[in-house]
Amino acid sequence: MKIAWQKNAALQKRAFKVLPLGVNSNFRFWGEGITPYLSKAKNAYVWDADGNKYIDYRLAFGPIILGHAYDAVNEKVKEQIDLGTLAAMTSELEIEVAEKMVAMCPCVEMVRLACSGTEATMHALRVARAYTGREKIIKFEGMYHGFQDYTLWSTYAPVESYGNARNPIPIPSSSGIPRLLTEMVITLPFNDPELLEKTLKSAGEQVAAIIAEPCMGNCGAILPQKGFLDLIRKKCDEYGIVFILDEVKTGFRIANGGAQEYYHIKPDLATYAKAIGNGYPVAAFGGKKEIMSIIGHGVAQGGTYTNYKPGVAAAWATLTLLQTQPIIKTINLRGKRLMEGISKIFSEKGIPHCMNGYPAMFAYAIGVKKVTDQRSWSASEQEYYLALVDAMIERGVMPDHDPREPWFLCYSHSEADIDETLNVFREAVKAVERKA
Ligand SMILES: Cc1ncc(COP(=O)(O)O)c(C=O)c1O
Repeated sequence: MKIAWQKNAALQKRAFKVLPLGVNSNFRFWGEGITPYLSKAKNAYVWDADGNKYIDYRLAFGPIILGHAYDAVNEKVKEQIDLGTLAAMTSELEIEVAEKMVAMCPCVEMVRLACSGTEATMHALRVARAYTGREKIIKFEGMYHGFQDYTLWSTYAPVESYGNARNPIPIPSSSGIPRLLTEMVITLPFNDPELLEKTLKSAGEQVAAIIAEPCMGNCGAILPQKGFLDLIRKKCDEYGIVFILDEVKTGFRIANGGAQEYYHIKPDLATYAKAIGNGYPVAAFGGKKEIMSIIGHGVAQGGTYTNYKPGVAAAWATLTLLQTQPIIKTINLRGKRLMEGISKIFSEKGIPHCMNGYPAMFAYAIGVKKVTDQRSWSASEQEYYLALVDAMIERGVMPDHDPREPWFLCYSHSEADIDETLNVFREAVKAVERKA
């Protein structure tokens, strides 16, 4: 590192002794000597332990939609803390959050709250299995639905291990995932309508749920090809399968009603976390009344912290602001300018690339003209991507160190932040040699 890094390095050394990899999530470990440690976060900025300030485009992997430590959210949370952080009783605020979700999210008629995206997808899968009386699920290669065992398949493995695209092999993304679960998961490349239809022809009657992110929010923000989400909807109806749209990244971010509003698509169930609470642990899953109402009637769902008051208060404040202020509209304008600026800088340098995702959550793949699934994305230049990220970090702009992870924008990113980011991006492209 060419910037002050002594305190980051010292904290990492200490952390290595007591935390595996020196962090509390594998994704926060970038490597020895390059992993930053946080001192504070406010609005669109983070400061590391050495006091280096960055314009933050990681935003905690997406939850921060308004800005870090956003005053209006913190005030509501503080009010609730004084009224008690947790009780085994439902409060009016929880009902109001559910009412707001029903008003904002097209498919949501009933909701249950949870604490994380992993929990939300886990519960949604159980409900789908209970509703259909079937056990198999279909998930798409490169999509991530949290750390529960049912869907952590074919997520990060080198795509060479996935077998032929006509007959994909589900690969567990961790040791410790029971092999027996292979029987319950079918993995498919995203955006392949023929393969989806062929698979359903042979296995459709055994499938409880198709779970999909609307775009590949954990693999370069690859967009759905025209008609692909509609096809999932149609086929789920045809085979009696529950369509679970995982809106953990897109919900309350790409539109107030998430990808459902954006694409005019109604899944049966949807899962939410991240932007719903602007950085507090709160999540939800919801959908059709007919399906959700089986909860409590032979279907178990709950959790000690699922009405954690600071989280509920944060969701209440965040959703209220989204409903009443031009938040997504403002983010979209700034994000669009940033996306276009980045693309222009690449084009001026003659660097082939494609931009993916949405202004509030975008990514770019270098050295490839088009990506439609994890397999085609894997041909992009990831080493060069990382070298550019390192050059940006040294200059005060922080995207994630993982090329699969999108750049996230929030309401606190100002026009001046976008200008500064584009200046830094231009300098980074100038400074880093591309060996293609
Ligand atoms: C689409 C998607 N689903 C689920 C999850 C899991 O959420 P959490 O980290 O809150 O458990 C994530 C996390 O990044 C995600 O991106």
